[in-house]
Amino acid sequence: VDRPRRAAYDLLRTVADDGAYANLALPDLLSRHGLSERDAAFTTELGFGALRLRGRYDAIIALCASRPLDRIDPRVLDALRLGAHQILAMNVPDYAAVSSSADLARRLGPGAAGFVNAVLRRLAATPQQEWLDAIPPPAPDDPLGHQCAAASHPRWIGSALADALALADAGGELAELLAADNDAAPVSLVARPGRISPTELADATGGTPGRWSPWAVGVSGDPGRFTAVRDGRAGVQDEGSQLMVLALSRAEVDCGDTSWLDMCAGPGGKAAVLAALARQQGAELTAVELHPHRARLVARTAGSEELRLVVGDAREAPLSGGYSRILLDAPCTGLGAIRRRPDLRWRRTPADLPALRGLQRDLLQRALALTAVGGVVAYVTCSPHVAESDDIVAEATRHAAVEQVDARGLLPEVPGTGPGPAVRLWPHRHDTDGMYLALLRRVA
Ligand SMILES: C[S@@+](CC[C@H](N)C(=O)[O-])C[C@H]1O[C@@H](n2cnc3c(N)ncnc32)[C@H](O)[C@@H]1O
Repeated sequence: VDRPRRAAYDLLRTVADDGAYANLALPDLLSRHGLSERDAAFTTELGFGALRLRGRYDAIIALCASRPLDRIDPRVLDALRLGAHQILAMNVPDYAAVSSSADLARRLGPGAAGFVNAVLRRLAATPQQEWLDAIPPPAPDDPLGHQCAAASHPRWIGSALADALALADAGGELAELLAADNDAAPVSLVARPGRISPTELADATGGTPGRWSPWAVGVSGDPGRFTAVRDGRAGVQDEGSQLMVLALSRAEVDCGDTSWLDMCAGPGGKAAVLAALARQQGAELTAVELHPHRARLVARTAGSEELRLVVGDAREAPLSGGYSRILLDAPCTGLGAIRRRPDLRWRRTPADLPALRGLQRDLLQRALALTAVGGVVAYVTCSPHVAESDDIVAEATRHAAVEQVDARGLLPEVPGTGPGPAVRLWPHRHDTDGMYLALLRRVA
């Protein structure tokens, strides 16, 4: 089997067997297989695509196979998923997709190659739309269930996204959002203020100015090849994340504005920009991170001399209080970043929510207690799930002396952020991660 397909197969296997995160495991696999840039792009598209669309392909494979999915060896099933992605979504001739997948299965047991060959030939013989129409449950019986299965989203995620869209006056856009989740995310760089200008970064990388953020430069290919990224003048950061920092920095505060706090800072993408802005405005940034290895990344990304780093639990870490600007980029399910993390949708379950919600509630309560009167907290999640966003904010504003600012006014250049006062960004509308921002001001 050729190395690019072998690498994609190994990616699926390490995700399944070792619980590896695909986006973290991929770079190592690409270099271990010694792939050229072109082959690496093929492997990435094949491996990530097969992981994202696993739900859709499993449903189609079940229609083609002569036995239920749970009676197919998981190693053989991964070979089938790779074959399905090449046939249905990539520009690969059917015979090459079928024979290379059969070759992957050949050493997995007697009959495995023949089985893969037969299933994929059946799959290739029918147009994709017919398969999609046939995926259970039938649309007339269960429209949402059918839509989620065909668009390769677990039903609970599709349902949560539909709820969030409805709150954002975007109730009719579920199909577009699910489709956007299945696309590869664009690669966006941030020109870190004071270190490199966006124009210099665009010139150095051959990139183009971002769509929304003044610091963003869009590039293609591996961003690790750029000197500016390697030496830390620029970083890889979704434009949505950049806009969260921009909004917080633009908020009006009615107090001294010299001490800022990033409560959940690791790995430090937002802290690096915040620290640079704080320095420009004569303020000091304190950054808190629970996990020591992630705290080290904050120091490396932002520069340890640029901020005061506290390693510990932000719910109880010794902090002075009286901060004028606090970023609470809360731990969350990450359902807004599904397209960036191809295996996330299959990893997360609704059982993750209660513990995350408890943490989010406690962190926001602490953030408000640490805010100076007249200061602001940006509560941010990369999840549109209402239980992690509006519900948490509604609870906090019921109890504390806070008012919610209309955050849309802080990002006037970005249309379609919803009915307010929170801002919601969407992959299908803004081509960013699905970010949520609530801006809360502490009042007397
Ligand atoms: C959404 S990520 C933050 C991303 C970060 N703001 C950035 O832009 O790079 C949430 C972070 O919070 C950290 N975390 C989780 N629980 C925490 C706690 N109780 N106190 C402080 N940090 C915590 C996680 O380790 C994780 O690094």
